Amino acid sequence: MFNSMFDNRRQFLKWLSASPLAISPALSAFAAETPAKLPDPMQWAPANLQELIKAPRDAINVFDFEPVARVNVPPAHFGYMASGIDDETTLRANREAFKRIALRPRRLNDVSKVDPSIELLGAKWETPIIVAPTGGNKAFHADGEIAVARACKAKSHLNVLSTSGTTSIENMITARGGPVWYQLYASPVWRVAEAIIKRVEAAGCPVLMITVDRLGGRNQETFLRLRRTDPRDCAVCHVPGVQNQVRRRPNYDGIDMAGVPNLQSANMTWEFIAKVRQISKMKIVLKGILTHEDARMALLNGVDGILVSNHGGRSEDNGMASLDSLPEVVEAVGGKMAILFDGGIRRGSDIIKAMALGANAVCIGRPYLWGLGAFGQPGVERVLELLRTEMVAGMQQVGVRSWQELTPAFVRKG
Ligand code: FNR
Repeated sequence: MFNSMFDNRRQFLKWLSASPLAISPALSAFAAETPAKLPDPMQWAPANLQELIKAPRDAINVFDFEPVARVNVPPAHFGYMASGIDDETTLRANREAFKRIALRPRRLNDVSKVDPSIELLGAKWETPIIVAPTGGNKAFHADGEIAVARACKAKSHLNVLSTSGTTSIENMITARGGPVWYQLYASPVWRVAEAIIKRVEAAGCPVLMITVDRLGGRNQETFLRLRRTDPRDCAVCHVPGVQNQVRRRPNYDGIDMAGVPNLQSANMTWEFIAKVRQISKMKIVLKGILTHEDARMALLNGVDGILVSNHGGRSEDNGMASLDSLPEVVEAVGGKMAILFDGGIRRGSDIIKAMALGANAVCIGRPYLWGLGAFGQPGVERVLELLRTEMVAGMQQVGVRSWQELTPAFVRKG
């Protein structure tokens, strides 16, 4: 039952008590993301989580940042970042799906020069790696979203600001020194959505990413368990009520929130999307589409793109890996609309698998938050650098010089 390095349960517990993993009673959730939880006698150089990296350049892969973030970030905030929903089946499925499929490398195609750039909704990017919208980045590092924007500027990545962000869209665009996409939580009240849309368009956002998969409450068990271990009084900052919730979210500044019951949008329908079209010239991407039926509806409703995403396993525990939804959506769309993908990307090879299955770009969430929580801007930069390096090496090994050469034939399932 235990790793064979440990002869008995007592030895295992002794090792565990000396490990940073022992800090967390929610051991399973934390360790779920880290590939080498225990020293593995089959590995020549096992990852040792007791030796935290001291600087971003020491990181060998993106997982190296997670235990450092676990130490630096307050337990409740780290728990919020790591959490899935209920049994966290979807959270785990997102990673396991990548392990279930393999790449079929082709040889003798000159790959001395590889071009990982993409065209997406009228703009060219050096890589398909996009920084996903995540709320409240100041909970993970004092520099918050500004550090993320500066890292994206330094490494030339597109990033998407969340409505739940702790930085305004105007400051974000200044820090990025270029266009930033905006992710909309519409709220159930049209005038709130309308005010935000007008503001972000005036600020210069080219694309509005409308999140359609956060509809109600959620049981974030890892967060709730880790919060119990946080010595700080959460109620000091997190005062109940929508008015208080938006206080540290500057993209709601100036909007009258009286009578707004919550910040989700359980009442959203396709008519909402049509109304957005009428008042805005921004391109529209729907975030959270998982089925061919909804992909067809998106086409019929004239949106510009969809992001195949289950919110990193944070919205519902439906058990479906995001990657498993990708092929049916790609087939339904038939090349008529941009398809982005996210959920569980931790390796360059994950990016190649998603792109081979038909994604035009991919978003990453937790990995850059680990970098942010561990080291701020330089941590985010190193995460992006590691993913790009792995991705380019992976393109060479699979035998493609550009994404156009990569097709589903490069993937073996099962
Ligand atoms: C998110 N995500 C998210 N999505 C969104 O549309 N608006 C938001 O405010 C947030 N906030 C948020 C906070 C945190 C802490 C996490 C981890 C995620 C979801 C995010 O955009 C993306 O879909 C997932 O993170 C992708 O999965 P991975 O890369 O984290 O596995």
